Amino acid sequence: MAEHKLALIVGGNRGIGLGVTKDFLAQGWEVIATARQPAQASALQDLASASNGRLTIPRLDMSDPVEVDGFGATLGGKTVDVVLVNAGISGPAHRSASEVTPEEIGALMFVNAIAPVRLARSLAGQVRSGSGVIAFTSSVMGSVADNSGGHELYRASKAALNSLSRGLWGELGGRKLTLVSLHPGWVRTDMGGQSAAVSVDDSAAGIVSVLQQQKGAHQHRFLDYTGKEIRW
Ligand SMILES: NC(=O)c1ccc[n+]([C@@H]2O[C@H](COP(=O)([O-])OP(=O)(O)OC[C@H]3O[C@@H](n4cnc5c(N)ncnc54)[C@H](OP(=O)(O)O)[C@@H]3O)[C@@H](O)[C@H]2O)c1
Repeated sequence: MAEHKLALIVGGNRGIGLGVTKDFLAQGWEVIATARQPAQASALQDLASASNGRLTIPRLDMSDPVEVDGFGATLGGKTVDVVLVNAGISGPAHRSASEVTPEEIGALMFVNAIAPVRLARSLAGQVRSGSGVIAFTSSVMGSVADNSGGHELYRASKAALNSLSRGLWGELGGRKLTLVSLHPGWVRTDMGGQSAAVSVDDSAAGIVSVLQQQKGAHQHRFLDYTGKEIRW
């Protein structure tokens, strides 16, 4: 019998998170995929109906610190093999540091950078020691080295996510976990738009493969969905 494995996908109801959820289910894993409105998450509900109880859909809104801090307690003491904190937003349409309000930047930074690391820190004790992987859906746009300008607020939020993830990595030192900051490619989703280069299926398959290759590495790396290293 295949070994039982559990993945937690935060933001699993559409786009890349939904693709990754489908792939883990297809490989026989149990999956916990969060949604802000589980009852309205029809694609996940359909997958859950066909999953023989292997998919559950708890509610989690990453803009709510109380929900983020309380989420670990809802896992019922389960040990998780892979955590992918994938939920993210683009930020205000004007995209400009010269126009942004404190409320707009606060909301963007909280959802894209603070909440993911805060959640991961609170869950680290429930991730399997040795082979466990904690991954964050970052973006090449978070690379300071490869920053060619534009989208400055979104870039800053993903750079902050990378920095906070590295801080968490240092903090977790002795726990024998692996951290990955992932660039999923430029993907055809609501966020990436229809002219993006990569399909959800290809991005998701790449992400699932990279996450499994990284298990046991006990490193923190910045990788794209093909496993290629991205400069910090
Ligand atoms: N698409 C790309 O080309 C691309 C490139 C680089 C990085 N990324 C990153 O990849 C991740 C997924 O992007 P995507 O393209 O799949 O985007 P998407 O189709 O817009 O999906 C975004 C996901 O994040 C969830 N989310 C947003 N705000 C949330 C909140 N406050 N609490 C909980 N969940 C929330 C959404 O849930 P709702 O349905 O409830 O809104 C949805 O499940 C993001 O972190 C994004 O920054 C995407």
